[in-house]
Amino acid sequence: MPPVVHAAVSWQNGLAFSEQYQDVYFNSDNGLLETDYVFLQANRLADRWLDYPNASFTIAETGFGTGLNFILAAKLWLDIAPVKANLHFISAEKHPLSPADMSKAWQQWPSLKPFSEALIADYPKAIAEGEVSLFDRRVRLSLLLADATTAYRKLSQQQPNIAVDAWFLDGFSPAKNPDMWQGNLFEQMAMLSNSQTSFATFTSASAVRRQLMAAGFKVSKQAGYAKKREMLYGQYAGASHAA
Ligand SMILES: C[S@@+](CC[C@H](N)C(=O)[O-])C[C@H]1O[C@@H](n2cnc3c(N)ncnc32)[C@H](O)[C@@H]1O
Repeated sequence: MPPVVHAAVSWQNGLAFSEQYQDVYFNSDNGLLETDYVFLQANRLADRWLDYPNASFTIAETGFGTGLNFILAAKLWLDIAPVKANLHFISAEKHPLSPADMSKAWQQWPSLKPFSEALIADYPKAIAEGEVSLFDRRVRLSLLLADATTAYRKLSQQQPNIAVDAWFLDGFSPAKNPDMWQGNLFEQMAMLSNSQTSFATFTSASAVRRQLMAAGFKVSKQAGYAKKREMLYGQYAGASHAA
């Protein structure tokens, strides 16, 4: 395996800023509420998890970053999902934060300390081995250290029966990170989706919308979080919705 190249991060008022992508990891207004609004609510996770009938639910993400999306999804799962069921959270990350930067990033959310401490403790193992179980083994984190398209292509080749229930399309803005938001990524997402699969993303870029539709996703728009005018969410429909 090639050596891990950690993210180059600087700090602006305690908030992580990516030197590689010249973009912020979070909205400075309130990263917690943004994640809840954009990823948890738009994927309807609370509705789907209450009385969840299956043994396991799989979320797949592009860009693990600080793991805030992971922690908030895990917390909701532990709060409301049936105890017998497990959450599998897969995240592709091209430039993982160093363990030191990860610890520093979490200082801004003391209210989540019981959860972040567990992540920070297991993060070096997740980087080294690609997988850890947390929270009494009710949550499994798979960290795929590669470009998202490459990582999900490999995953679908290695585990052709794996199905993603909800996608978190994160990963810096398409304007700052155009390499990630390519048609190949959406085609790969389609390969791992079924008719129950949802997705949500903070961006409303028209190229992203068009390519998701071309890959077979039904795409809706709603108001974005805080200053962002619009965001996209939707469902896999199995056929191209391109106009
Ligand atoms: C805005 S941050 C994500 C925040 C994150 N979801 C969280 O909860 O902290 C974007 C992340 O995407 C990662 N990234 C950028 N391009 C990528 C790519 N092509 N494949 C995988 N990850 C990528 C960056 O390294 C960064 O960690």
